[in-house]
Amino acid sequence: RGKRAFIAGVADDNGYGWAIAKALAAAGAEIIVGTWVPALNIFETSLRRGKFDGSRRLPNGSLMEISKVYPLDAVYDTPEDVPEDVKTNKRYAGCSNWTVKEVAESVKNDFGSIDILVHSLANGPEVTKSLLETSRRGYLAAISASSYSFVSLLQHFLPIMNPGGASISLTYIASERTIPGYGGGMSSAKAALESDTKVLAFEAGRKGQIRVNTISAGPLGSRAAKAIGFIEKMIDYSYSNAPLQKELLADEVGNTAAFLVSPLASAVTGSVVYVDNGLNTMGLAV
Ligand code: NAI
Repeated sequence: RGKRAFIAGVADDNGYGWAIAKALAAAGAEIIVGTWVPALNIFETSLRRGKFDGSRRLPNGSLMEISKVYPLDAVYDTPEDVPEDVKTNKRYAGCSNWTVKEVAESVKNDFGSIDILVHSLANGPEVTKSLLETSRRGYLAAISASSYSFVSLLQHFLPIMNPGGASISLTYIASERTIPGYGGGMSSAKAALESDTKVLAFEAGRKGQIRVNTISAGPLGSRAAKAIGFIEKMIDYSYSNAPLQKELLADEVGNTAAFLVSPLASAVTGSVVYVDNGLNTMGLAV
């Protein structure tokens, strides 16, 4: 039987989540995705109207199929957690069962089990503010959307993950080294995500024979990255200073993710794997 992957954080064809979906589909996995509720309508409409058909094309010529798209808001674990103003917000009102617990239940009802869990989402409402200017609310929101969301997803999906399965998330070097401009507590959120990768690798390894790794990716001009405001500068910086002076393609991150969740990486867990043209190794810009 082929493997089944649930990919949280796909809302267009530009980001790392899409590239990971494609790499997994190319390797024969069945793809199901979780899309942020406010982005769901436009994503499904675009899919249906063929707007992504060009980028759905796989190396063998076929188009990537997405078996099902689930609405998801990974900052809420259960319906009881959802505040009234969100419940009644018109972008959420027409949708149901989008908290993490409910999505895991829906996937269980529809598919029974999964083998691969991908977390490719982040959000920091104050990302453009320096840490010194960040509010408590902004900082906690960044951690909630970007770090705890992974803990919650793994917590709720682990019971339906087949032993031998794996999960992967996306992190950024701002967790370990100062990247001015990556603010709002996003650097803190990535540090938490990387530390949690180790602890969760232990816990999920022992509990369900599930591997947990994270990819520290180089800069990509995704929708989320453009919202931060300095992504072009980071891409240029990487091009000038990395050991490999070439564009970083989302597909390169996708391919590494496919490797890490495959049996080829069966002894790799708790790791931060850099997919950044080697930029992280440099101590001096030259
Ligand atoms: P993206 O915009 O394709 O993906 C982010 C996704 O998160 C979007 O689809 C958005 O709708 C979703 N999202 C936001 N809040 C959510 C919530 N509460 N519940 C569910 N979904 C939510 O952008 P990108 O850049 O591909 O981001 C994917 C991951 O890669 C993130 O973890 C990001 O931090 C990481 N990353 C990105 C880098 C870059 O330069 N683009 C570099 C290193 C890591």
